[in-house]
Amino acid sequence: MKSIAILTSGGDSPGMNTAIRAAAKYAFSKGVKVFGIRRGYTGMLNDDIFEIEPKDVSGIIDRGGTMLLTARCMEFHEAKHRQIAADNLRKREIEGVVVIGGDGSYRGAKNLSDEHPDIKIVGIPGTIDNDIAGTDNTIGFDTALNTVLEAIAKIRDTATSHERTYFLEVMGRGSGELALYSCLAGGGDGLFIPEKGFAMNDLADVINTRRKKGKLSDLVIISEGTGSATEIAERLKNKINSSVRVTILGHVQRGGSPSAMDRILATKLGAFAIEELINGKDGIMVGIESNKLTTYPLSYSWENKKVIDDKDYELAITLAK
Ligand code: F6P
Repeated sequence: MKSIAILTSGGDSPGMNTAIRAAAKYAFSKGVKVFGIRRGYTGMLNDDIFEIEPKDVSGIIDRGGTMLLTARCMEFHEAKHRQIAADNLRKREIEGVVVIGGDGSYRGAKNLSDEHPDIKIVGIPGTIDNDIAGTDNTIGFDTALNTVLEAIAKIRDTATSHERTYFLEVMGRGSGELALYSCLAGGGDGLFIPEKGFAMNDLADVINTRRKKGKLSDLVIISEGTGSATEIAERLKNKINSSVRVTILGHVQRGGSPSAMDRILATKLGAFAIEELINGKDGIMVGIESNKLTTYPLSYSWENKKVIDDKDYELAITLAK
């Protein structure tokens, strides 16, 4: 393989730059030319493709966001646009593409790889949501988790001073992973995740009872996929014997320098993706499960839903009470 291209697509996540760096440097070490595609599939379609040189990936290992920019490209749903995109790759003799993003990005990749077998595609899971089957963690999840933990510590300071109950809404789209592990690691006093719905329907009673026993504050974690924290707080506030506040963490969870765990994950997956492309693999995603590098067909990511670990959920609920 003489030339490959890298793109990032969908929501950015901390560690995408680390993966770009690792993929590019690993490719250079194998004598492969590297191109960057700006704004995901939009750049592939609009021919916004440039050659990446070693200096371009120097000093980005710890930078949040993505140097390649990212976008969600609707036109890529149509085969005629994918044809134009494929031709833009061909004219630069690009034979392989590394797609860093979530399962939405993999669908476009799968179509491109099916229709244009001369262009090989390998996906790298990058999203803070940790909602991709076939890998224990996605790039960015650990950093986002640490961001939530920092926020929890700060909110708890003020919540305790005012003896309040806080409802904290965290991201995750349809997945409760970020909320669940924020609750476990941050000592949440309540948890609502989409996979389990409103399982803690006795929350107000639990809060009131422990307040009587001297607890000064409560922090309930709500995954955005369960519903709006504002609405949930509104529904419960008359039943809770303390003042109630809501914090929606929002896009702060997507930024920041990637954590050590995300940098290691991104570095391993970036290099592995190139190795797989050089070995002629196509239409696959790479991941790490139980500390082992894995590959699955791209379709695995949408045909299989990542399941919440029931034991971890039960533990979070037990300790939240
Ligand atoms: O998929 C990552 C994510 O941050 C989700 O957690 C969130 O629901 C969504 O993207 C937000 O998307 P946008 O940046 O388009 O508002």
